[in-house]
Amino acid sequence: MSAILKVEGLGKRFGGLAALSDVHFEAEEGQITGLIGPNGAGKTTCFNLITGTLAASAGRVMFRGENIAGLPPHRVVERGLARTFQSATTFPTASVRENIVRGALLRHQVGTLASIIGGGSARDAVRAAEETVVDVMDALELTAYADREAGTLAYGHQKRLGVAIGLATRPALLLLDEPAAGLNPEEVDRFGSMLTTLQQRFHLSVLIVEHHMRLIMRICDHIVVLHHGEKIAEGSPGMVQKDPRVIEAYLGAEHHVE
Ligand SMILES: Nc1ncnc2c1ncn2[C@@H]1O[C@H](COP(=O)(O)OP(=O)(O)OP(=O)(O)O)[C@@H](O)[C@H]1O
Ligand SMILES: [Mg+2]
Repeated sequence: MSAILKVEGLGKRFGGLAALSDVHFEAEEGQITGLIGPNGAGKTTCFNLITGTLAASAGRVMFRGENIAGLPPHRVVERGLARTFQSATTFPTASVRENIVRGALLRHQVGTLASIIGGGSARDAVRAAEETVVDVMDALELTAYADREAGTLAYGHQKRLGVAIGLATRPALLLLDEPAAGLNPEEVDRFGSMLTTLQQRFHLSVLIVEHHMRLIMRICDHIVVLHHGEKIAEGSPGMVQKDPRVIEAYLGAEHHVE
């Protein structure tokens, strides 16, 4: 096994608040790694630092042996790392297909101008992008909705479209921020099965943030737990579930919610 992603001493301060402090973990190639923790633990901040949405205050993000911390988001995508956002970020008036094409073209790097002029390599890239779009729609069971305006889809399908757009960039590592939030229990189960199928079909490594513990425990090979910006535990689902620090972090969080 080898790590596709190594987070080394990652830190982020917002004024006086340490949103993330000296966090170290690895995501193994071909595995699903979970990143969990109570609300405000620093999970989304960690994603933002990995994907270049935010600049780190400290540390390195090694992706396939290269430090990508500080690269702008489009350079990170080019290297084969894609993400979905916690809130949906589709283009609501574009069709499902068009939304996924945008994702595909991000990676295949054809500007619209190049595709209009139509040099050989641009045509090849457009063809590759089209094939990717067909594959991705099929894998996420969105083919029947290809021509629907994204904004008119049911919530569960919108969430799947978010994953499809990320997947269309043909990433080696896909980061998912609460992809199952707001889904009903049946949809959560279906999403879990879809994700494990996708992972094999597209040879993906996945880093997933989720509050649905049953889903996390079922699909993850390895889990990293954050609390107040620090890593408090990591290990197999079975180990993490029994860890007293993890139990306390979640119980404490529930107590505060009341
Ligand atoms: N742009 C920002 N400016 C200031 N503080 C921020 C900013 N983004 C996040 N924070 C703070 O950093 C901490 C970590 O937030 P983050 O969004 O990473 O948590 P999270 O683990 O993703 O939580 P959730 O499960 O609720 O999505 C929180 O205290 C949050 O209020
Ligand atoms: Mg978050």
